[in-house]
Amino acid sequence: MNRELRKTVIAGNWKMNMLASDLGSFVSGLLPQISGFKSWCDAAVCTPFVLLPAATDAFKGSGVGVGAQNMSQFDSGAYTGEVSAAQLSDIGIDYVIIGHSERRQYFGETDKSVNEKLTTALKSPLIPIVCVGETLSERETGVTFELVSLQVKAALVGVSASDMRRTVIAYEPVWAIGTGKTATPEDAQEVCAAIRSVIASLYDKSTADAVTIQYGGSMNEKNAKELLAQPDIDGGLIGGASLKPDSFAAIINAANQ
Ligand code: PGA
Repeated sequence: MNRELRKTVIAGNWKMNMLASDLGSFVSGLLPQISGFKSWCDAAVCTPFVLLPAATDAFKGSGVGVGAQNMSQFDSGAYTGEVSAAQLSDIGIDYVIIGHSERRQYFGETDKSVNEKLTTALKSPLIPIVCVGETLSERETGVTFELVSLQVKAALVGVSASDMRRTVIAYEPVWAIGTGKTATPEDAQEVCAAIRSVIASLYDKSTADAVTIQYGGSMNEKNAKELLAQPDIDGGLIGGASLKPDSFAAIINAANQ
């Protein structure tokens, strides 16, 4: 991470886990273990939609933001079951994850819908976290860089340089998600650096230097420090380890020193 140039963002992705009744013990377990945030570091928890209002209340004043895991590409209207960017920001949500690989794999998200959702999110105050990453067979075939740059380029169609600066990109190799297999710090750094050069080629170097690029995929309290020490890794998107206050606190503290 490069604290002079851009923010470090540690975001938990709770996926379809936790109940409203779990929030109190999570918050009281987490908060005493994390001290005030440094200017370069932000932390957030992305919860299921139904928990968002309660999570916003529970984390109020703590410095920990709250994010959603998905949103509609449409502004409003007859889209049963969907949630809009305006509805999220209206209740004080800070972040929204867009194009997580589980949404691409199980719910038909495409590069096109990711671009539409990003465009819609950027019309609101939400900070989008756009996920990209290769599958195991894509890595083994040697097309990681091509694939990830294609995903990044497709997501960013029509996005202005100033909107780019407030967009977070999460590099999440699909084979590392929830598997306990982490990319080596060097492999993760290599892809994050490649993503930054794609952004530099689409915009310019100063825009690329300002963009927060997270790593995600089995990040935990043991490997966070080494991953976060890489110059182009500016934080993490953390699934499993974000469900445990002790592990999540340790990762936040590794970034917030
Ligand atoms: P994991 O999930 O940390 O459990 O691998 C990361 C993610 O899917 O965002």
